Amino acid sequence: MNHPSRLHDFVASFTRLVDDGAGEERIFSEGKTLLAGLIAHDDWLPAGYARASDQRYQQYLLYCDPAERFSVVSFVWGPGQATPVHDHTVWGMVGVLRGAETCEEFAGTPPRPTCSHHLGQGAIDLVSPRVGDVHRVSNAFTDRVSVSIHVYGADIGKVERHVFDAATGAPSPFVSGHVNAGAPALLRIIDA
Ligand code: FE2
Repeated sequence: MNHPSRLHDFVASFTRLVDDGAGEERIFSEGKTLLAGLIAHDDWLPAGYARASDQRYQQYLLYCDPAERFSVVSFVWGPGQATPVHDHTVWGMVGVLRGAETCEEFAGTPPRPTCSHHLGQGAIDLVSPRVGDVHRVSNAFTDRVSVSIHVYGADIGKVERHVFDAATGAPSPFVSGHVNAGAPALLRIIDA
């Protein structure tokens, strides 16, 4: 980790954007540009927030806006790991910091697969109820860890949302939480 200030600068800029009243469309343009700048350099995320588990993908809270208007999370995918099919109910941006991911999109009731695309390092995917909210994300690699940085329009760890049965599409409610419960994660990173 060489430049932890990159996350601080990103959060400061993103906070100004939200303070300015930016809605989803500006978030997906100006906020996306900010996220692209953050993930353009892989020299700021401490190893403790990029640690994979043999059991399942990991979700570390990096920062949550005090008013919970947005949160920043690192997702760490061990080789071949994948999420279930799930929704978000708020806007979200998925930016690949390290490695690569496969994103499968779903639509309809029950959700059915519509398309799949590859996200390489530096790529950003968008989700929301407006642009398409149901997907499954997996590590594109079976032999290495991938890491992505996500930004959501809420504390995503607290949002009540759904996972969908892969075979039937039947929804089940879930609240994801974070691996590292408690705040302030950002201060721990800056002090690291
Ligand atoms: Fe997702």
